[in-house]
Amino acid sequence: AGSLTVAELAEKLTKSTSEIIKKLMGLGVMATKNEELDKTSIELIAHDFGVEVEEEEVIDELDIERYEEADDPEDLQERAPVVTIMGHVDHGKTTLLDGIRKTKVTDTEAGGITQHIGAYQVEEDGKRVTFLDTPGHAAFTTMRARGAQATDITILVVAADDGVMPQTVEALNHAKAAEVPIIVAVNKTDKENANPDRVMQELTEYELVPEAWGGDTIFVNVSAVNGGGIDELLEMILLVAEIEELKANPSKRAQGTVVEAELDRGRGPVATLLVQGGTLKVGDPIVVGYTYGRVRAMMSDVGLRVTEAGPSTPVEVTGLNGVPQAGDQFLVFADEKKAKQIGEGRAIRAKEAQRKQTSRVSLDDLYNQI
Ligand code: GTP
Ligand code: MG
Repeated sequence: AGSLTVAELAEKLTKSTSEIIKKLMGLGVMATKNEELDKTSIELIAHDFGVEVEEEEVIDELDIERYEEADDPEDLQERAPVVTIMGHVDHGKTTLLDGIRKTKVTDTEAGGITQHIGAYQVEEDGKRVTFLDTPGHAAFTTMRARGAQATDITILVVAADDGVMPQTVEALNHAKAAEVPIIVAVNKTDKENANPDRVMQELTEYELVPEAWGGDTIFVNVSAVNGGGIDELLEMILLVAEIEELKANPSKRAQGTVVEAELDRGRGPVATLLVQGGTLKVGDPIVVGYTYGRVRAMMSDVGLRVTEAGPSTPVEVTGLNGVPQAGDQFLVFADEKKAKQIGEGRAIRAKEAQRKQTSRVSLDDLYNQI
């Protein structure tokens, strides 16, 4: 977070300056209206008012809008779980994602699987599950660092012929830190040298103890290549989702996270968005990270044109003035003018922050030379 004065912080938190000053006094800090606050104080105060400030996160209009729009419990409806697949290199994350999709998406569905999309939805027993194809841990970490908790359940893939490896541990630590429930998919069980018991044994060291051994971690043996265990894995995902009681309010302006984005030659900036709250509609004025625009067209995960996307739905969107980044937040505004104003403001602040960072680096370099 950058520095803010007391008055600026008050505005961001939609509180009065005297409320902020009172809180500061409670922390033993005497401050006036125009005093600049350090990061720790900003975080403490924001926290006191129920707003979490994560590292590098700027409290700005996007967050404030979200803060103001607390949901009425009556508006909340059940939503699909959002699942990320993580694990060590070559343990079969991509193959498993493909396998689930192949098993579950029928050819009769118009359009079929026509293009790559960083997220998709399948149906099991009439219930939907959303899978995110995050390109490795980096994206997951970025999303988390920005406070964008997009994942409800993590599938930890461990190859039964290879066992627990460094990135397995990294992945499970990420999931634990984010307090996301973990389901272990022991993959490649079709292989001759597969040893699922060894995987269970090794994971107990990291407090992932199978139910059969008195723990509470769900383990499912799968084979991403022949589809074995995929139905059971989906059932377990639905079971965990039910326990989590995942809900969202579909009847407000949409808000969510960028899964991936790129510049398409013909269509311009194209972003895959995960709607987390509200319903996104064609024509909506929108701010996405440091970009903005109006939703021109939306495409579903199977390449169908859609006009609306509700909570937990991934959708490909065009109509932005630039390419946002994976992990960026998006928010729909009531009118285009406001979206433009906020989008431009964010872009300017982002540039300023970058410039500050660059000049700081060069100063450090200078001192190093002396
Ligand atoms: P990275 O994205 O590089 O981290 O790898 P990944 O985890 O996505 O692994 P990927 O799906 O690319 O699979 C790695 C290799 O393992 C490929 O050659 C797959 O065909 C193979 N593989 C994946 N799952 C299985 C499985 O269930 N059984 C067998 N026999 N091979 C598998
Ligand atoms: Mg892969």
